[in-house]
Amino acid sequence: MYKIANIGFLDMIKKFRIILDEILPEFKEILPRGYQKIGDIVVISLHPNLIKYEKKIGETILKNLPNVRVVCRRIGPVKGEMKEPQLKVIAGEENTETIHKEGKCIYKLDVRKIMFSKGNINERHRLQKQVKEGEVIVDLFAGIGYFSIGIAKFCKPKIIYAIDVNPTAIEYLKENIRLNKVEGKIVPIVGDCREVVRKLGKIADRVIMGFLPGTYRFLDSAFSVLKEEGGIIHYHDTFKKEELFEKPIEILRNAAERNGYKLSEILYKGIVKSYAPRIYHIVIDAKFSR
Ligand SMILES: C[S@@+](CC[C@H](N)C(=O)[O-])C[C@H]1O[C@@H](n2cnc3c(N)ncnc32)[C@H](O)[C@@H]1O
Repeated sequence: MYKIANIGFLDMIKKFRIILDEILPEFKEILPRGYQKIGDIVVISLHPNLIKYEKKIGETILKNLPNVRVVCRRIGPVKGEMKEPQLKVIAGEENTETIHKEGKCIYKLDVRKIMFSKGNINERHRLQKQVKEGEVIVDLFAGIGYFSIGIAKFCKPKIIYAIDVNPTAIEYLKENIRLNKVEGKIVPIVGDCREVVRKLGKIADRVIMGFLPGTYRFLDSAFSVLKEEGGIIHYHDTFKKEELFEKPIEILRNAAERNGYKLSEILYKGIVKSYAPRIYHIVIDAKFSR
């Protein structure tokens, strides 16, 4: 069996494939070709015909990949508005709480309770470059601090209001604030962002909308928290290839008009990642004025 030393991620994927091909060569065509690693937890998806071998597969991964404590298998898609993952431990400890490091940021989370999209890493870095000193930021779907932690750590906002409807996510966010030493820079708030923004009033220079899909349903709430004179909204959503980028821009223009603003500039538009066949997770940074 392969012995793995200190190797990079692409080498790890290669070895991952080799070790699985070695134990189940007759299933080469349907074996998983990749995996997600969050902290010391590996998450994989399995073809239905491989489920009876899940223990063997899990234990092989556990034994052969470095720094792996638990192996989980996806048993369904993320559930509901809180985006709860559906995972089963197939090897290693039952405890699925872990600490994931991304650059200099630390995220503590339980992978069976909280979703973590590694596909958004570039977007997290890109956003940090936009933030200006002294801004008031409202993160409408803050989760465990995917965007807020990095901004608090590397930018100089006045304050970040980080809202999430999931109390477990906010508990982890509070812990992540401590772990990343950004106390006093983030105000964690449990609640539905549509209600919380009413209490906050028109305070935001910048609003982050890191939720999918159907994010357009929350645009009126984003405008209700934006400063009177206007500001920037980071609008994430999903669209078909043929709708890019006319449809999301039209949605933003209409939402602005409905709320007494005008779309004054598209600062950035881009694809974050593929969401489903021919459907993309996109982001638009848009500037609005009166
Ligand atoms: C999956 S996370 C976003 C992922 C993240 N942007 C990343 O980079 O990985 C979406 C979050 O929105 C929260 N959420 C859903 N509906 C909400 C609402 N109405 N108000 C506030 N938070 C909400 C969920 O609880 C979840 O934590």
